[in-house]
Amino acid sequence: MSLRRRNSALVLALAFVAACDGKKATPETTVPATASATPSLASPSAPPSPPVATTVDGDAAVAVTDAKPTWAFDCTDTSTPKGGKSIGHTSVVFKLLLSSGKKAAWKPNAKKVKGRYKGEVAAFRLAEALGIANVPPACIRVFDARAAAAVLAQSDEASTLFADEVIVEQGKVYGALIPWIDGLSFWPIEKEPLRTEARAWLGAGKPIPAGKSDLARQASMLVAFDFITGNWDRYSGENVGLDPTGTHVLFIDNDAAFMEGPPKAQLERNKALLDGTDRFSRAFVAGARKLDAERLAAVFGDEAPGRPLLSSAVTENVARRIKELVAIVDAKIAARGEAETLYFR
Ligand SMILES: Nc1ncnc2c1ncn2[C@@H]1O[C@H](COP(=O)(O)OP(=O)(O)O)[C@@H](O)[C@H]1O
Ligand SMILES: [Mg+2]
Repeated sequence: MSLRRRNSALVLALAFVAACDGKKATPETTVPATASATPSLASPSAPPSPPVATTVDGDAAVAVTDAKPTWAFDCTDTSTPKGGKSIGHTSVVFKLLLSSGKKAAWKPNAKKVKGRYKGEVAAFRLAEALGIANVPPACIRVFDARAAAAVLAQSDEASTLFADEVIVEQGKVYGALIPWIDGLSFWPIEKEPLRTEARAWLGAGKPIPAGKSDLARQASMLVAFDFITGNWDRYSGENVGLDPTGTHVLFIDNDAAFMEGPPKAQLERNKALLDGTDRFSRAFVAGARKLDAERLAAVFGDEAPGRPLLSSAVTENVARRIKELVAIVDAKIAARGEAETLYFR
C-alpha cells in the first residue's frame, strides 16, 4: 500500500472496518487482482443524523455515522467462491457465497456487458478519491474459470448464464466483487413523487423539509458523480439504494459508467440534471477540484499488472467532465453566491 493510499485508508478507517487497497494487483488466480463531522449547511431544522449501530454482513455491530458505509469489505481478501446463483437482472450478476463466509455480488466480464465490470471498480476508486462514502466497495477479482463454473453448477440458471455469457481469458475470469448489502432497499428517485421532490431540494432558494437535508446532500452528490463518471443508466430502476438505516444513499450499479462510447442522448440528460442543480456539496466540489487527468490515472490504477483499469481516453473524458462540473459550479457561485451554491457540507 502506498503512503497516499495508506493515509486515505486511515482517514477512512472508521468508514471501512478493513481498508480496501484497491490498487494492488496480483496476477494470481483467485487472489485479488487489484487492487470531522462538518455541520450541514443545508437546513438549520435538519440536524445531522446521529451515529447508529448496525450489523455488518453478519459480523459484529459497529458504530457508524450518517456518511459511513455500514458493512465491512477488504479487497485484499483472498477467499474463493463456494456457492452462487444468478441474480437474474439486466446485466450478468451473480450472488456468491465466499469461502470466508461473506456474501458478495459478482459482476464478471461478460459478452453482453463487455468490460463493464470495470465501471464498478472505477466508481469506487473515484468515490474514495473524492472522499465520499456512497459507492459500495468494489474490487477487481480474478477467479479460475473452471472453479467458478463448478461452484455455479449448483444452479442450472447460473450455470447456463456462465456458459453463455462469461468471458474466459486464459482460464481466468476478470470481474468486480462487491459486498452483499443485506437489507438494501431502493430509493426510487426516478419515480414520482420523489423525483420532483428531490429536484426541488436541489434548486436555489427553496426550503428543504426538516429531516431531508442529508438525503438532499447525497442526491446532489449523485447528480454530480454520475455527470463525472458518464453513467447513463442511473434512473432505469433500482440503481439508487439505501442502506438498512434508510439514511445512507448507495450509488449501486455503476457498470454503465466510464464507457468508451456511452450513448450521447443519455449523457445529455446527466448534463440537464446538473444544470438544474444549484446546491452542491462543498466537500465534493473541493475533492473534484483536485483531480486532473494525471491524478485520475493514479486513482483508477491497474486491474492487473500492466493492465490499466481504464483507457487513457476514458480517463481524459472523466478529467474533462470534472473541469466542466467545476466551471458550472463556479458560474453558479458567481451568480448566486458561495453559501447558496456550496450549500451542503
Ligand atoms: N452488493 C449488493 N448487495 C445487495 N444486492 C445487490 C448488490 N448488488 C446488486 N444487488 C441486487 O442485484 C440487482 C442487480 O444488480 P445491478 O448492479 O443493479 O445490476 P444490473 O446491471 O443488472 O442492473 C440490484 O438491483 C440489487 O437488487
Ligand atoms: Mg441495476
